[in-house]
Amino acid sequence: MSLKGDWDGGREHAVHHAAWALGLRIPKNLDWLGDMAVVTTQSPIMWRRLAYQVARMPQKENHYDFRSWSHIGEPRETEDNVRAYLSKANGYVIGYLAAHDAGRHRPWDLVHSSRYGDEDNTSRPSIDLVWVADAYRRQGVGATLVQALADDFGCQVTDVSWSTPVSDAGRHLARRVSPKGIWVN
Ligand SMILES: CC(C)(COP(=O)(O)OP(=O)(O)OC[C@H]1O[C@@H](n2cnc3c(N)ncnc32)[C@H](O)[C@@H]1OP(=O)(O)O)[C@@H](O)C(=O)NCCC(=O)NCCS
Repeated sequence: MSLKGDWDGGREHAVHHAAWALGLRIPKNLDWLGDMAVVTTQSPIMWRRLAYQVARMPQKENHYDFRSWSHIGEPRETEDNVRAYLSKANGYVIGYLAAHDAGRHRPWDLVHSSRYGDEDNTSRPSIDLVWVADAYRRQGVGATLVQALADDFGCQVTDVSWSTPVSDAGRHLARRVSPKGIWVN
């Protein structure tokens, strides 16, 4: 990125930073019914591409090797119901939650070094990643995304499972929506 900055006068870096702070501008020909959209691996390519672009933001911020959304080829059903929830404000995507359904979890009390509890084999929606544009953080957008996942699946927000590792910011959010602890996988 820094080398690229030298070539293009830092423009690519500036564009990425603006998107990280304010969200990604929504293409004009995408119709949103409300403030939240669910993108599946079979959604029209425009939606899947948007999820792919948004997934770049947390990938860079948290230095993940892989994007949490990669479904930009042929539409394909997934066994574990991979999907992404996008929330919008002012014409921008400002929140993103990537999820799938999973069947092996352990309870965790959210205390840093404490051990996970006994395995549970209930089918639960699992958060692969949740991200909110910087300018919109700590306003409840993250909690709304987790609630949308739970509502869509038909469970309580405390029944949701989180893919590990959970970042420090993710742990704060998890404690807010499920103070007694969470399921992890
Ligand atoms: C984690 C994240 C999605 C939370 O989104 P958000 O929209 O700020 O979440 P909410 O506004 O619903 O906040 C929920 C609560 O979490 C806590 N919280 C969130 N981020 C926090 C932070 N960085 N430091 C301390 N507390 C934080 C607060 O207690 C907040 O409640 P309150 O401010 O009302 O008391 C956002 O910080 C983010 O995108 N972080 C970078 C990506 C990341 O680490 N994702 C998690 C991967 S598992």
